[in-house]
Amino acid sequence: MNSMLVQENIPLAPLTTFDIGGPARYFVEAKSIGHVQEAVAFARSRDLPLFVLGGGSNLLVSDEGWPGLVLKIAIQGIDQRAGLDESGRVLFHVGAGECWDKFVSRAVASRYAGVECLSGIPGSVGGTPVQNVGAYGQEVSETISSVQVIDLKDNQVRELCAEVCGFGYRCSIFNTSERGRFIVLRVTYALTPDGAPRVTYTDLKRHFEGREPPNLAETREAVRHIRALKGMLIVPGDPDSKSAGSFFKNPVLSEEQHEDLKCRAAARGLTLPSYPALETRKKVSAAWLVERSGFARGFGFGRVGISSKHALAIVNRGGATAADVFALKDQIQHRVEEIWGVRLEPEAVLVGTQTAPDGFAKTT
Ligand code: EPU
Repeated sequence: MNSMLVQENIPLAPLTTFDIGGPARYFVEAKSIGHVQEAVAFARSRDLPLFVLGGGSNLLVSDEGWPGLVLKIAIQGIDQRAGLDESGRVLFHVGAGECWDKFVSRAVASRYAGVECLSGIPGSVGGTPVQNVGAYGQEVSETISSVQVIDLKDNQVRELCAEVCGFGYRCSIFNTSERGRFIVLRVTYALTPDGAPRVTYTDLKRHFEGREPPNLAETREAVRHIRALKGMLIVPGDPDSKSAGSFFKNPVLSEEQHEDLKCRAAARGLTLPSYPALETRKKVSAAWLVERSGFARGFGFGRVGISSKHALAIVNRGGATAADVFALKDQIQHRVEEIWGVRLEPEAVLVGTQTAPDGFAKTT
């Protein structure tokens, strides 16, 4: 395999779905484990901060860009293993650089169940375990069997089984306790041959109401359709799709905070939306809070605003800077906290440092 190519001053905006942000001082696209190791050695030898880039679908890059090395993982391959695991599932080893939706579409077309509700999500496979990607009633933690990583502590390649990944709502050890320690190389998914689709999410159930139970392909199409209605499917030319998806997480509250929120809602003659998945985790809809704090869909001015289809997505309406997004983010957080007593946390990853309204959270 050829040696890796180190590029300099590469604009990062075009590598993100937000289309925002400055350049990477150094940039490497790694197509193999060897390249990843070389790139890590390069960063180490020059004492450069390292940022690992996947599909760029969940990022807000600062206007100053990244001062060190951006390592884009481009390891390809969807490799189906022969035989079944102990629960009758088939294993797929998937390169971290593969397009996630390509993997989902292949799985569905070959009638493997387990990821059909995760259709139409932008980004690459390597990002899926990091934030435990979830949508429409499924989470990748249910089908990930193991994750192959480089451990930056000792530069060894390791296979981490799902149990040690610490999966939770939009989190894992990769973005919490062990953040910055591992680089994801490949993910092994365990899918059920000829399995039934998961139709539990209200939006999906409603879609199929009064119809025959759907197959996997129909479920995939329905999810893509619902995502498109919410501006959560990347459609070239749709101004609402220049975003990082949900900008905030749905807050998970304590019993006490939840009661307090219900009281605040009641005082305004409102009722919190209720779904089993919300109730069991004391989770509340961030979109609901945003919309009831004076930020309607379509809110905004000039270059940055809220999607006209979904209150949780901040969109770049053309030429927006990270500082613009940051200002709107601050405004939303402030108002929501003032009215509802709940602090919204970004779901998107903020990359780089920036002298913006109140500074940028530094990643890595
Ligand atoms: N809800 C349920 N069950 C249902 C319907 C809704 O629990 O049957 C909950 C949702 O979990 C959410 C709220 O009700 O808390 C509002 O539902 P909506 O479908 O509008 O979802 P959302 O909060 O806007 C979340 C994810 C999306 C994901 C959708 C669909 C986050 C931050 N966002 O969005 O993920 O596609 O649910 O499941 O958790 C992303 O992470 O970037 C993202 C787009």
